[in-house]
Parts: sequence; structure tokens; C-alpha cells
Amino acid sequence: MKYSIKYNELSAEEFILLWETVWGQAPSLEQTRLAMEHTLFRVSIFDDDTIIAMARMIGDMGLDYYIKDVIVRPEYQGKGVGRMLINELMKFVNDNGISGTQIFVELCAMPDKIPFYEKFGFHANEAQRLKMMYQVR
Ligand SMILES: CC(C)(COP(=O)(O)OP(=O)(O)OC[C@H]1O[C@@H](n2cnc3c(N)ncnc32)[C@H](O)[C@@H]1OP(=O)(O)O)[C@@H](O)C(=O)NCCC(=O)NCCS
Repeated sequence: MKYSIKYNELSAEEFILLWETVWGQAPSLEQTRLAMEHTLFRVSIFDDDTIIAMARMIGDMGLDYYIKDVIVRPEYQGKGVGRMLINELMKFVNDNGISGTQIFVELCAMPDKIPFYEKFGFHANEAQRLKMMYQVR
């Protein structure tokens, strides 16, 4: 496969570009820059010079890792690129978690994406996601 992988280089601009290919209006550049700066691990995949996929991991390194913003550009979906992203994220956990311990790796997925994550060993439990969009003053 001719795709190349970059580590911790994903920029806020690239994040916004990919976000908008699947989810429409992206967060602001300012918010996204702060988020990239504080992300534990960013992975991006390129076809030549074109960014085609991204994912990132947030967390505390010791007990809990959380997968965020797994996106493959629509025209590249179904070609194994999503699998590449998850494999890279799990390698990061394996390389950084304390050997021999058990670590929570969590994510939030829409129902139609759950079978994708189940392929990597994730499973839904009975917990419900609680959220609000908090207005920062
Ligand atoms: C979900 C997403 C990341 C999957 O990426 P992808 O590159 O299409 O997935 P892959 O081609 O690597 O698929 C890997 C495996 O998962 C399967 N798969 C992928 N999406 C699936 C789905 N929605 N339901 C069931 N299986 C799925 C593939 O058939 C493949 O199976 P195989 O290896 O046994 O043949 C991609 O569809 C995407 O970016 N969607 C839009 C953004 C999004 O919703 N992201 C998830 C946020 S939680």
C-alpha cells in the first residue's frame, strides 16, 4: 500500500479539513489548536501529499486512554485505512502502558460504527454517554 503514516504531526488545519469531509461544521481553529497541543498521540495517513485519515488518543497514560476523532476521508473508506488507524492507536497504548497491567481503552461510537470497533476487541457495555455542550464564560 502506498499510504504513509505520520505521528504527532496532525495540524489543526488538517483536523478541520478531515472533520468537514464527514461531519460538516468543524470546531474553531483556536479550540482545535489547543486540542492538538494537548493530545497524547496523533496519527495521520497520507496518499502522496493528500491527508486521507486521522485519529487521536487522549488520556492519562497510566489508567485510561480514550480514542477520539477517527476519520477516513469518504472516498478512501472500505480500503483498510480505518484498521491502520486503530492498529496505530493500540500500538501506542502497548508501547506506553505499564507492561503487565490492564488499561481502559474507551471510545464513543454511533450504533452503525460499533461493528467496526468490535473487530478490534471493543464491546459496548450498559453505561450510557452523558454529555452537554458547556458554554464557557
Ligand atoms: C468508521 C471508519 C473510520 C472505518 O474506516 P474504514 O477505512 O472504512 O474501515 P476499514 O476499511 O479499515 O475496515 C476495517 C474492517 O471493519 C469493517 N467495517 C468498517 N466499517 C464498518 C461498519 N460501519 N460496520 C461494520 N463493519 C465495518 C470492514 O468491513 C473491515 O472488515 P474486515 O477487515 O473484516 O474486512 C470510516 O468509515 C469513517 O471514517 N467513517 C466516518 C467517520 C466516523 O463515523 N468515524 C467513527 C467515529 S466513532
